[in-house]
Amino acid sequence: MQKFILTIAGGGSTYTPGIVKSLFSKKEQFPLEELRLYDIDGDRQDKVAIIVKQVVKEFAPDVKFVTTTDPETAFTGADFIFAQMRVGKYSMRELDEKIPLSYGVVGQETCGPGGLAYGLRTIFPMAELIDFVEKYAKPTHWIVNYSNPAAVVAEAMKKLRPNARIINICDMPVATIRNMAAVIGADRNKLVVDYFGLNHFGWFTKVTVDGVDRTDEIRQHAIKYGLLVEDMTKVDAQHSDPSWIKNWKNIQYMMEMFPEYIPNPYMQYYLLGDSIVEHSNPLHTRANEVMEGREKKIFDAVEEFNKTGEVDLSSFYTGVHGQFIVEVAISLAYNQRGRFLVMVENNGAIKNIPHEAMVEIPAYITNDGPEAVRMGEIPTFHKALIEQQYAVEKLIVEAAIEGSYEKALMALTLSKTVPSAFVAKKILDDLMNANKGYWPELK
Ligand code: NAD
Ligand code: G6P
Ligand code: MN
Repeated sequence: MQKFILTIAGGGSTYTPGIVKSLFSKKEQFPLEELRLYDIDGDRQDKVAIIVKQVVKEFAPDVKFVTTTDPETAFTGADFIFAQMRVGKYSMRELDEKIPLSYGVVGQETCGPGGLAYGLRTIFPMAELIDFVEKYAKPTHWIVNYSNPAAVVAEAMKKLRPNARIINICDMPVATIRNMAAVIGADRNKLVVDYFGLNHFGWFTKVTVDGVDRTDEIRQHAIKYGLLVEDMTKVDAQHSDPSWIKNWKNIQYMMEMFPEYIPNPYMQYYLLGDSIVEHSNPLHTRANEVMEGREKKIFDAVEEFNKTGEVDLSSFYTGVHGQFIVEVAISLAYNQRGRFLVMVENNGAIKNIPHEAMVEIPAYITNDGPEAVRMGEIPTFHKALIEQQYAVEKLIVEAAIEGSYEKALMALTLSKTVPSAFVAKKILDDLMNANKGYWPELK
């Protein structure tokens, strides 16, 4: 059986240990010869690697483990690249969230002005990563990309690197499916869903299990409780802390008003924006929670290791996030045609929105990439929302490529989260100031 070389780009991510554990839990199906971590921040990666090393030792001691900040070492001969870089790290995420909030606008890492700021930071580093991979990796390589803001990244790479062997994915649909499965007491792998939208902007239209339509049961639960399940921590540690509990709950309010389709939790930032802002603390946002939670837990475990030589293997998250990226890689590796929600160019799969849009829909994952499942025509309300949001994403990508301040301002103004062009301009100017050295120059 062929053994693969797999590189994680953004090796210093808080998700790395969980992904590695998930990889090794499938080592019989998907054997690795070598696991490499690559990051531009060697110090951060070295810390995370202390934990990863113990995971290797415990679950797959025969796998060669390498950490590097050198692209040639990272990608030479690689079969798979898992990308999960956060350009600007949590300190910039914090500003993406806090600057819009200071103007009473949704402060979120991937939605609204914060997501656009993060997009402007990420587009060119992502293109550079693809170039490194194309230079050094096997010609048959696949990049499976989690790096956010995935919608903007997907749109930008379609334009800048149209031939790249990249699949952009998100764990939110699969996490939502995990919760739906818990609601109806089924195994998440048995749910077959129909879904349409953009990344962090879409709706489930149908859920079947063993050919039986279960949509209405889930709908009725969601109208009463959102997609909250009784004990989230039993379902999965990811998305179970208090702010995620709120997000799952907020689905209820959207379902009460629009009960036909079940929204992705991220729709709350567009449909319930005023309430989200009202319940946000502009001085303490999700970035702070993550630094005080997920990140601290890992760094504390590293400190503990340095003192005692023992590693607490429960210090990191495992769950659908790690499982999903590995499932997609396995389907790519063995041409399994697994059905997953991923980002693909629309090309008529959603009939009545632009063909060139990068949409999130079900697709069969072959060794030649995703084959989209057709979702047909969508209703006026959803079509209008999607077209507006797609225009935002398209404009921010054009702003980056052309260095256009006006297009960036158009993107922010058009975002459903922003009340006027005046407010858009103030936020844009503050974000531009905060992102010096990260953004392309906008004139
Ligand atoms: P993190 O800050 O802990 O880790 C990100 C790492 O990326 C850091 O170590 C950083 O140094 C590194 N990095 C930054 N720029 C880089 C570059 N140019 N090349 C290589 N490495 C670079 O972040 P995290 O919270 O663990 O998240 C990692 C990424 O995964 C983020 O982009 C996050 O938004 C994304 N994510 C996406 C999904 C999804 O559904 N698509 C889910 C979870 C996380
Ligand atoms: C979900 C989304 C990701 C996002 C993450 C943020 O999983 O799909 O795209 O990065 O949430 O979670 P966090 O715990 O960092 O706020
Ligand atoms: Mn996501």
